[in-house]
Amino acid sequence: MERVGIVGLGSYLPSRIMRNQEWEEIVDTSNEWIVSKTGIRERRIASDDTCTSDLAVFAAKEALEDSGIDPENIDLIILATSSPDVPLSSTAAIVQGKLGCHNSAAFDINAVCSGWVHALDIGSRFAGTSGYENVLVIGSEIYSRILDWNDRSTCVLFGDGAGAALLRKTNSRGVLGSWIKSDGRGSEVIQIPAGGVRIPFGSENFSEEQKYFQMDGRAVWDFAVEAFPEAVNSVLEKVRMDIEDVDIIIPHQANLRIIEAGMNKLGLNMDKAYTNIERYGNTAGASIPIALKEAVDTKRVKTGNLVITVGFGGGLSWGANAIIW
Ligand code: ACO
Repeated sequence: MERVGIVGLGSYLPSRIMRNQEWEEIVDTSNEWIVSKTGIRERRIASDDTCTSDLAVFAAKEALEDSGIDPENIDLIILATSSPDVPLSSTAAIVQGKLGCHNSAAFDINAVCSGWVHALDIGSRFAGTSGYENVLVIGSEIYSRILDWNDRSTCVLFGDGAGAALLRKTNSRGVLGSWIKSDGRGSEVIQIPAGGVRIPFGSENFSEEQKYFQMDGRAVWDFAVEAFPEAVNSVLEKVRMDIEDVDIIIPHQANLRIIEAGMNKLGLNMDKAYTNIERYGNTAGASIPIALKEAVDTKRVKTGNLVITVGFGGGLSWGANAIIW
């Protein structure tokens, strides 16, 4: 049976490691608080001279190499990001130029931390249709530059990074299906209030803190611990598989405690979840492809496994993909 498969993977994490102890010097926090509340021990921080598009290019180059496909044979680039290089043009177009994918279309999607799950759904619908043989699906973020480094309730949670997957038609294994959802009534639970047309920078209503990422942590927690199991169960129902069939869950790395609560609600042990949040923090739309690549590299994901990728975050938005590896 023909399916759309992931035929190449790549990721990029900046080399600069920032440990929790460094945050203790900047805001009123402690390594103990961060580890006990989130599981995060360190994160990566992009250098000042790199942009979200640069991280995406590093990850995409690796995915191209892994698949053996040349840049000029890419037909479409879909980039999930909520920390774009600029409000416009799209960061995907910037990536296309830097990668030399001169024959491709390119666009961004913004579904915040569930962005890559959405992008994989869109990409797997395109791949293999007329004119779209090879599709690159990337998640890339530099949250360190949209955070308020004086706000301890958000700044310690995130990190920078990128992950990429190359999609094309395969003979058997691949994406079985996806399930995605939004609830815009919660659009202000996670937000950057200013910088769009509602509150332009420097306008009468603008204040400095509105240019940074803001989050109602408690409300996100309440949403996430329900959204995670709902998305997994919904995609399984869609592809007519059962929770017992699942070999591994690759969750959005928002908070280890959220992952534990979600797995518990699903009746699954934590050894069925892949986590790397302790090393990278929450890399938003990049966390799932980064974790997927690590899980494949370390043989936690094996040929024939049923892999569920699940994301949840701003929008509010959430969703999952079911993949036979
Ligand atoms: N260090 C020390 N203390 C802190 C810190 C910090 N970094 N941040 C907050 N606190 C304090 C608070 O001020 C509060 O103090 P108080 O009791 O004196 O008022 C205390 O810790 C408890 O604060 P809560 O907000 O109640 O802590 P909670 O147990 O809810 O944990 C957390 C906070 C970790 C943010 C949790 O709510 C959470 O994980 N929420 C989900 C966040 C998330 O996953 N976001 C990712 C999705 S966003 C996206 O996808 C882009």
